Amino acid sequence: MDAARNPYTPGAGKAPPALVGRGRELEEGRVVVARTARGASADAPIFYGLRGVGKTVLLKALQNQAAAANWMTVEIEGKQESTEQHLSRRRLARGLVGAARSAVPRRQRMSDAWKRALGTIGSFSIAAGVTGVELSIDVQAGSGRGDSGDPTVDLEELVHDLVPALAESGIGLGIFVDEIQDLDPAMLSALVSVQHRAHQNSWPFHLYGAGLPNVPARLAEVRSYSERFHFVQIGALSPADARAALAEPAEAEGVTYQDAALDRLVDVSGGYPYFVQVFGDQAWRAAPGHAVITRQDADIAVAQGTAVLDESLFHSRWNRATPAQKKLMRAMAEDPVQSQISDLVARLGKRKPSDLSVARDELIKKGLIFAPERGYLRFTVPHMDDYLRRQVEE
Ligand SMILES: Nc1ncnc2c1ncn2[C@@H]1O[C@H](COP(=O)(O)OP(=O)(O)O)[C@@H](O)[C@H]1O
Ligand SMILES: [Mg+2]
Repeated sequence: MDAARNPYTPGAGKAPPALVGRGRELEEGRVVVARTARGASADAPIFYGLRGVGKTVLLKALQNQAAAANWMTVEIEGKQESTEQHLSRRRLARGLVGAARSAVPRRQRMSDAWKRALGTIGSFSIAAGVTGVELSIDVQAGSGRGDSGDPTVDLEELVHDLVPALAESGIGLGIFVDEIQDLDPAMLSALVSVQHRAHQNSWPFHLYGAGLPNVPARLAEVRSYSERFHFVQIGALSPADARAALAEPAEAEGVTYQDAALDRLVDVSGGYPYFVQVFGDQAWRAAPGHAVITRQDADIAVAQGTAVLDESLFHSRWNRATPAQKKLMRAMAEDPVQSQISDLVARLGKRKPSDLSVARDELIKKGLIFAPERGYLRFTVPHMDDYLRRQVEE
């Protein structure tokens, strides 16, 4: 086996060689597309889960399904940096212009419905700061709709004006928002509100999302419409699926694993897709030119992979924390899965839970921890606790 044939894909958002264990979610995506084609209402999923479980690639796979049915699709990503936040509207507008270019029926004379739709996309985009050169001639004809400056009003007008054109072409408009917990509140609230109206009126508009475990709580804060969302929790792969995620891509390249090697890698990965890819990648590198990956290769892969994970996943997050936040995380690492806040208060020699709330809130905002239930905290990154325990030992 050589490096050029290495089939593993460690890296955020990198499409894996086989999207293992997500058959149900993919089927749900197909149902949304099929129902939309029939003019029926449908519930697009909002995925949530720990980091590295494969939410981004799943969201992308559903976007590909929609794009294959000729939908207008737009992808945007929530950003933590405050300097980035006000740009979401412009990113959405740019995406819409691009999507409209590929969706508009080209050959025939343009229908009135599409002319009107493009006019509104034009004025929405100009108001959002998209420059004239980025707009095609067709889109440029501003209609004065969707440019009031109020994100909710504008987005509703935009979608409202798009509906007849979408219906005429039998397609949907899908907005795919990754890291949705970090989307600026104005844009999030506008999208949620439009999604609500779309649902009431069976408009072919769908908000798809992916983000951290706090996403359901975050969306409930934004509007009282959260009962309308179809939240889907994405977790680690089952041991059988994790085995398949390791073995199948290798087999396709004529390479097999010893059973004991697979056992070891599945075990250390905990079934988390990102870890599976990192350890598979290292196993491949540990056995250059061999037809079989042995237990010994797997042991080397575990050592190397752990170092890679420290570098790529853990160090940078740890370094972003302030001393007070680090103390809180160290205290959390003493618990196996999640920590009870009252225990942390005692462990850190504080008097009451509110003594921890500044560090706690900042770590939640940074996306490092979340509250799995009232009075508890947990890391968003799998195995972060192991990493911190290793640090302490060293
Ligand atoms: N179902 C899957 N099977 C195998 N590998 C996967 C699967 N889903 C994701 N991956 C891999 O896991 C890693 C993390 O995926 P990503 O979508 O970025 O996770 P998240 O968005 O949840 O943090 C990537 O390296 C990707 O190739
Ligand atoms: Mg992601």
